[in-house]
Amino acid sequence: MKKYFTFFIGMLFCGSLFCQAQKTNTPVSNQLVVIANSSGPAISKDIYGHFSEHLGTCIYGGIWVGPDSKIPNTNGIRNDVLFALREIKVPNLRWPGGCFADTYHWRDGIGPQSQRASIINTHWGGVTEDNSFGTHEFMKLTELLGCDAYINGNVGSGTVREMSEWVEYLTSGSESPMTKIRKENGRENPWPVKYWAIGNENWGCGGKMTDEFYTNIMRQFSTYLKDYPGNQLYRVACGPYGDGYQWTETLMKDPDTREMFQGLSIHYYTVVDGWDYKGSATKFDEREWFETFRLNYDIDNIIKGHKAIMDRYDPAKTKGLVVDEWGNWFQVEPGTNPGFLYQQNSLRDAITAAIHLNIFNQHADRVKVANLAQIVNVLQSVILTKDDKMVLTPTYHVFRMFRVHQEAQLLKTDLKCEDYSFGGKKIPAISASASIDKDGKIHISLANLNPNKEIVINCPVVGSAANTVTGEILTAKEMSAFNSFENPELVKPVKFNGYKLRDNVLTVTMPAKSVVVLEIK
Ligand code: AHR
Repeated sequence: MKKYFTFFIGMLFCGSLFCQAQKTNTPVSNQLVVIANSSGPAISKDIYGHFSEHLGTCIYGGIWVGPDSKIPNTNGIRNDVLFALREIKVPNLRWPGGCFADTYHWRDGIGPQSQRASIINTHWGGVTEDNSFGTHEFMKLTELLGCDAYINGNVGSGTVREMSEWVEYLTSGSESPMTKIRKENGRENPWPVKYWAIGNENWGCGGKMTDEFYTNIMRQFSTYLKDYPGNQLYRVACGPYGDGYQWTETLMKDPDTREMFQGLSIHYYTVVDGWDYKGSATKFDEREWFETFRLNYDIDNIIKGHKAIMDRYDPAKTKGLVVDEWGNWFQVEPGTNPGFLYQQNSLRDAITAAIHLNIFNQHADRVKVANLAQIVNVLQSVILTKDDKMVLTPTYHVFRMFRVHQEAQLLKTDLKCEDYSFGGKKIPAISASASIDKDGKIHISLANLNPNKEIVINCPVVGSAANTVTGEILTAKEMSAFNSFENPELVKPVKFNGYKLRDNVLTVTMPAKSVVVLEIK
């Protein structure tokens, strides 16, 4: 009761400020009310997940250089990338695809390296895949990162037996044909595997199935994915792209089908101007900047649409929404292999990351996992590598700044803000979310999307005493600023002092085109 009373008083206070501004025709007073004693859901750390695909130089060169490489490595995994990824607390890593997953036959990637089969990566550039990075190497990577494994099984061109044996190979501690092979390959104990996807984009590259056909196939595959003692799989059914709600309806409507999975995947990419010409990652104008964010915001409505269906059949929210591919998708960098999808990453991508992560936080009651595509050297990557060099992208820095939300409790917020308008269209100029961690520290993450205007925002903190504040900011002079191998630190976070705290109201002056994370104690 007290909680609601405080919320009500907070709203009255803020509502009156807002109305005053509107009546007197003064500029909109931007406000984010933070209800510090509200009891929202926990923000799953897995919302901050990543995705490693056998695509271009994501695995080979980006993560895996082999134990004999001159590039410093641990068991073949490059150290610079490993150490940088530890900093952002990668909670889970999805592998081996993407479209690659439905062509991948796991037994090609185990055993002595010299005896592993080479295959053609038919989806991505037609290059030879020598399978030197396989199950053992991936599981070692997750161990070194201290993250959960998210394995994407092959439904499109694989068999039920193949997938079921992979689970046995990985997670069983008993005597069995698969565990015998695992031990011969040098691994005595089973590994823990948390997430398991039953196919990828099976409406497209994963087999061009209809929703009903996939639903039946998924039920069959899922039946043989066993939980061996000590391991419990969180099975992820392949869901649709974007607003393909019919697919979600088909998976959710039948109770027997719902029993077969714990999570339902959706994919959503931001593609400015359509798939034929997706725009450049670094050479763009304000129209493309605006369009990118306008399309980024669509993920909010897409999630709401899927949630509405899931809520109807699963009001107790036992099934999670798994946004296991998201991010900006631009043209490849000039001169690079078109099949490798290698793109640079600018301040625009950092703001995209902030918008998505704030939206995922806000939907923490249903969104349990999300994976940015892809972790190194592909679409909206957090790391780029070139031989022995590495750069941390602006997106990386946002993941580092936002890691404070992992496993924190979402706080109720009420955002009223001015619009950012361009070419007759408008979007909210501010993106925000807030959480409270187990030590009682409140974190507010904000982004100012407007590239031309500083924005002052009042944040009344209701229901808790705000005593001290610290903050970090990520911004740059140019909208298209990016970190290159020549200039790797052009865009990086610095200490932020642009706030005042008075009577529990935090007033933040957000520079144009910036991302800010504040900590309140
Ligand atoms: O991320 C690139 C591709 O996009 C993935 O392999 C596929 O799942 C999606 O279509």
